[in-house]
Amino acid sequence: MALFWASTVGKKLVMAVTGLLMAGFLVTHMTANLLAYLGPDEINAYSRFLHTTPEVLWPARLVLLASVVLHAVSAYQLSRTSARARSEDYAVHRLQVATIASRTIRWFSVLLALFIVIHLLHFTSGTLLPGFLEGNPYANIVTGFQTQRGMAVFYLAMMVVVGLHVYHGAWSSIRTLGLSRPKAHPLVRPIATIVAIALWLGFSAVPVGVLTGAIRPAGDTTYTAHAR
Ligand code: HEM
Repeated sequence: MALFWASTVGKKLVMAVTGLLMAGFLVTHMTANLLAYLGPDEINAYSRFLHTTPEVLWPARLVLLASVVLHAVSAYQLSRTSARARSEDYAVHRLQVATIASRTIRWFSVLLALFIVIHLLHFTSGTLLPGFLEGNPYANIVTGFQTQRGMAVFYLAMMVVVGLHVYHGAWSSIRTLGLSRPKAHPLVRPIATIVAIALWLGFSAVPVGVLTGAIRPAGDTTYTAHAR
């Protein structure tokens, strides 16, 4: 196990598997968010189900947390290894296209980590959302994007980063798992592209819906919501 973790291939495999788990979470989260287009009942009922079913919520949270940590630690260690290899290999360091792409991805990863912290303080704890209503994600989404326009713009920009990160990650894990020969697996790359674009558009559709009035404040809420 220690040998597996110490190897480059082992770390890349950890990145690929944790990346896939997180992509699964993102597709589920994005689909659930789109329930907001159906009105408050559906999305609030989904949230209530999760929050009243700890045997689903907590294992999912723990797997997600472990995935984020393992993904970030292996990414950091892999980037150290390749930086060392580069400085040994080249007397003159040339900035290649691949280097620029991986640098961009590194900065995007930092931005994403920052986004997740801000996002949890915004819609989960409500620290950054005046008028946050516990157990009423519909109202929180509407209030959050209607009264905090800067936040809506920030989310929209970050969803581009999410899409690009998933696209890059899917592509490099395909290479890691040795599946990159386009002839052998002609559908793999298009699927990665479609998932990345679907996440970008699906997530962005919610702030856009609030900003355009397609998702608007509910007349009343269907189950007890307590203002903090
Ligand atoms: C426009 C895009 C997004 C919107 C509108 C949104 C909305 C929400 C809302 C309303 C909640 C609270 C749900 C509840 O309490 O039942 C939530 C939780 C969460 N979101 Fe998002 N989200 C978005 C994008 C993302 C992205 C891109 C990520 C990850 C990179 C993410 C990660 C999370 C996590 C980890 C939670 C906490 C889940 C838990 O309670 O354990 N979200 N989101």
